[in-house]
Amino acid sequence: MFSQPLLTKLRNAESIVAFTGAGMSAESGVPTFRGDQGIWKKFKPEELANFDAFMRNPELVWEWYKARKQIIAAIQPNPGHYALAAMEKHFKHVSIITQNIDNLHRRAGSSTVHELHGNIERNYCIGCGKHYTNEEIFQQDHVPHCPVCNGLIRPDVVWFGELLPDEEWNNSVTAAEHADVFFSIGTSGVVYPAASLPLMAKLSGAYVVEINLEPTDLSQKVNEVILGKSGDVLPQLLLVVKNN
Ligand code: APR
Repeated sequence: MFSQPLLTKLRNAESIVAFTGAGMSAESGVPTFRGDQGIWKKFKPEELANFDAFMRNPELVWEWYKARKQIIAAIQPNPGHYALAAMEKHFKHVSIITQNIDNLHRRAGSSTVHELHGNIERNYCIGCGKHYTNEEIFQQDHVPHCPVCNGLIRPDVVWFGELLPDEEWNNSVTAAEHADVFFSIGTSGVVYPAASLPLMAKLSGAYVVEINLEPTDLSQKVNEVILGKSGDVLPQLLLVVKNN
């Protein structure tokens, strides 16, 4: 399953980056966004995942996010997440850059996680910026409001049309530019600017490997494509790294 050039690159690598999307968490039971079973087939992003929609109908947006928070709180990291976390024993630097908001990389034990699209376990007041935990959110009925300034509280996730958090983005670019081997895992690679990272890494000299169930727009541009489930491929890769 793993090519000789990849094994050689891994043997000499100091810095590994894993750039992950919804496919990474699919085997934990989090639905992906695109494709036949994707979330955006059933719900419209313009009604749920943008700021104007939130201001227009905070009840609907909060109903959806409270349901997603409950689903995500009940699931567990899968063998793919654990394999990435275990890579830290074998390389000097391992960075995760994730588009996922589900916190599963941290829960699996990864220590350097750049969250490009936020984290569903966090919330903040759009009036004064104060942060709130999910526990505090669930204590309030309906639409949560800030006890300090009475502003609306929103989930700390990046919606369509919003800028990525500066620090997370800058750290992701730095990690991509310093990667020896860069894995793009379980992402359709269509949402920018996140989707530009694999090519940034390649331009900076990384060996770029895509792991996905099926080919994507990125496949033609990377050094190597491994077709399969990330929850199968990554544990096998870890075994190879251990013995390489
Ligand atoms: N293993 C590997 N790849 C998988 C698996 C799996 N078990 N299951 C699905 N995939 C692949 C699909 O083939 C698809 O290419 O994961 C990809 C998921 O793509 P999307 O649903 O488009 O998710 P993602 O790329 O993360 O979306 C980016 O879009 O709506 C937004 O903000 C949201 O962060 C998200 C962004």
